[in-house]
Amino acid sequence: MIEFKNISKVYKGGKKAVENINLFFNKGEFIVFIGTSGSGKTTSMRMINRMIEPTSGQILINGEDIMKQDPVKLRRKIGYVIQQIGLMPHMTIFNNIVLVPRLMKWPLKKQRAIAEDLIKKVDLPLDFLDRYPSELSGGQQQRIGVIRALAADQDIILMDEPFGALDPITRDSLQELLKELQKELDKTIVFVTHDMDEALKLADRIVIMQEGKVVQFDTPDNILSAPANQFVEDFIGEDRLIQARPNIQTVEQVMLKNPASVTPGKSISDAIKIMRDRRVDTLLVTDDAGVLKGFVDIESIDLNRKKATSVGDIMSNKVYFVRKETLLRDTVQRILKRGFKNVPVVDENNHLVGIVTRASLVDIVYDTIWGDSDEADIPDGNKMESMTAKESKE
Ligand SMILES: Nc1ncnc2c1ncn2[C@@H]1O[C@H](COP(=O)(O)OP(=O)(O)OP(=O)(O)O)[C@@H](O)[C@H]1O
Ligand SMILES: [Mg+2]
Repeated sequence: MIEFKNISKVYKGGKKAVENINLFFNKGEFIVFIGTSGSGKTTSMRMINRMIEPTSGQILINGEDIMKQDPVKLRRKIGYVIQQIGLMPHMTIFNNIVLVPRLMKWPLKKQRAIAEDLIKKVDLPLDFLDRYPSELSGGQQQRIGVIRALAADQDIILMDEPFGALDPITRDSLQELLKELQKELDKTIVFVTHDMDEALKLADRIVIMQEGKVVQFDTPDNILSAPANQFVEDFIGEDRLIQARPNIQTVEQVMLKNPASVTPGKSISDAIKIMRDRRVDTLLVTDDAGVLKGFVDIESIDLNRKKATSVGDIMSNKVYFVRKETLLRDTVQRILKRGFKNVPVVDENNHLVGIVTRASLVDIVYDTIWGDSDEADIPDGNKMESMTAKESKE
C-alpha cells in the first residue's frame, strides 16, 4: 500500500536526514519506526503525506506516485496525529471527535453517526458527546483523543509519538485500545516512537533507524530472534532477548485460571475470609457478571476496617490488567520492570479470566535461560495455590 523507493532527504544546509531507504508496507499493517533521536523517523513519516518532500526517490501509495497528486487532497486522505492528543477545551467532545470530518464537510448526520459509533467502542456513554473535555477524567480524554484519530475514516494514519508524555498505566491502556481499533477497523498505521516496549507491543513490523538509514525492517519476533547487528541488539536490550521464548506466545497460555475474586457488595469480613481460604493478600473485584472492576488488598482492609462496611467502599479501581491475547514478552517486561506482583487477565469484554503472577514469570525466565523449552512447565491451577501461598507468607 505504501512504498518508499530509494528515498533520501537532505535538508537545507546539507543535513542528510534520510539516506536511500526502501520500504514496503501492506494494507492494514501497523508499522512502527523506532531509532535514536535525530535518526530520521519523523522525516520519513512526514514524507508520506508530503508535509516534507523527498530530495530524491519515489513514494507510492496504492501504486501511485504521491508527487503527482494534489498535496491537499493527499493530506486529507491520511490521518495525522502529532505528539500528545490534546483536545480543544472550548469544543464539546462531539466537536473534538469530528474535527476533521467537519473540515471535510461531511453531512452532520454522518458526523454524528461516526462519533456515536466510536464513543461506544471505547465504552463511554453517548451523553459524553455533549460535555466539554474538562468534564471528563484524564484517561477518558485520552480515549477521545485516540478515537478522534479514527473519525475521518482515513485508510492511513500517521502518528508521531502520540503517547510520549503519558504515565505508563494510561499509556498501556491506550496502546491496547489503539491496537484493537486498528485491527477492527483495518487501518494502516505508521507510528513513531522512542520506546522499544511500545514498538514491540504495537507493531506488525518495525523499522529500526540509525543515522538516516534503515538497519532492520522486520516483525518483532524476527527482530528479537535475529537482531541485524550490534546496534539493534543494544537497542533491544539483553533482558528482552532472554524473554523472546518462541514456544510461549500469549498471556492466556501461562495465566493461572480462577483467580481469587470478590464482588463489591460483599462485606469486609467476607473478603477477609476469602483471602484466608485462598491464602492470598489481594482480591480482584468483579461485578456480578465477572467484569473486572478493581482490587482490594490486605493493607487497605486493615486501614479501613473500622469505617468501611463493604468491599465497594475500599476497593481501588486503579487496576492494571492485560488482555488474554497479549504477547507474553510484553507482559514479562512490564511486570518485571514496574514491580507488579501480579497482573489480572481479562477477555475482550473485560471479564476476569486469569492472573499472571510474578512467581510464574520467574519460572518462564528461568526456563528460557536454563531449561529445554518444554511445555511441561506451564503452571496449572494447583501450582497457583502453592505459589500464591508462598507469596502471602513472605
Ligand atoms: N527542517 C529541518 N532543517 C534542517 N535539519 C532538520 C530539519 N528537520 C530535521 N532535521 C534534521 O534531520 C535529522 C532527522 O530529524 P528527524 O526529525 O527526522 O529525527 P527523529 O528521528 O524524528 O528524531 P526525534 O526522535 O528526536 O524526534 C536530525 O538530525 C534533524 O536535526
Ligand atoms: Mg521525531
